[in-house]
Amino acid sequence: MPRHFLDLFDITSAEAVMLLDRAERLRKTPVATPGHATGRTLGLIFEKPSLRTRVSFEAAMTRLGGASTFLKGEDVGLGKRESIRDFARVISQYIDALAIRTFAHSNVEQLAANASIPIINALSDDAHPCQAMADLLTIRDTLGRLDQSVRVVFVGDGNNVARSLAVASALLGVTFVLASPPEYDFPEAFRTRFKQAFPKVPLTVEHDPAKAVAGAHVVYTDVWASMGQEAETAARTLAFLPYQVNEKLFKKAASDAIFLHCLPAHRGEEVTEEVLDGDRSFVIPQAANRLHFQLALLDWLLTDANAS
Ligand code: CP
Ligand code: NVA
Repeated sequence: MPRHFLDLFDITSAEAVMLLDRAERLRKTPVATPGHATGRTLGLIFEKPSLRTRVSFEAAMTRLGGASTFLKGEDVGLGKRESIRDFARVISQYIDALAIRTFAHSNVEQLAANASIPIINALSDDAHPCQAMADLLTIRDTLGRLDQSVRVVFVGDGNNVARSLAVASALLGVTFVLASPPEYDFPEAFRTRFKQAFPKVPLTVEHDPAKAVAGAHVVYTDVWASMGQEAETAARTLAFLPYQVNEKLFKKAASDAIFLHCLPAHRGEEVTEEVLDGDRSFVIPQAANRLHFQLALLDWLLTDANAS
């Protein structure tokens, strides 16, 4: 069974640190390092739109000396045109790793259970592990440290991005707080899994955004309705309005706090233009780190993690 990258619950703290260090090293390597991925192909299946994830994976594979092949979700018809099991067994014979962006997390798990190549979660309804690891790299780059004194506050929906950020924070030892309306808090299954993985780490949820952001070093937000939840937009807008990251809320954070957003952002909804374009916003270098983390992840999965 190959080593996959489905969820951050699957890696250790030592591996998380190793991946950040590897990303830092590889981003200084402007051209392909022979041997890393030469002659190898990454497959990409996207059932939802993407800019950052798709292009950073494709560019990373090129930089590592390999190639990538993009498959639109509707062309693959995962589980509809053919079973996930048949698909996984066949595609494993053509390519060397496969990244998938899908809805149900169980699709990613089923692919992993049947493939003989590493499977990467490029975002599911439950998790966005590549995003969270790139985010911890951005926090380390900007604050210069990752330890308990760093307070990361995610303001908004307890969604895929928030959940993976909570796990990445626990792995790397930083303090994480979710500020969300009670009805959009973390789901019970996630809480249970988190408690099992990190029995000593509190999973802090605060419903008062001002209280949560007080003294924060990182203020992070994401869209109120994720891909696939568009029909819930009106109800979500009402619930999340008090959680908008605007200048008034951001001012409650530490004076040198940074603002992060996985992007794409809905300007004037979850974040105001003033904060998004402000001098404490690091969303553009944050997006750059998506490439640096993908370099590290592919390099690891195609070599050490799956050395036979
Ligand atoms: N942040 C992120 O995953 O962006 P894309 O949806 O554009 O890939
Ligand atoms: N939570 C968002 C993240 C997009 C990168 C979504 O799933 O649509």
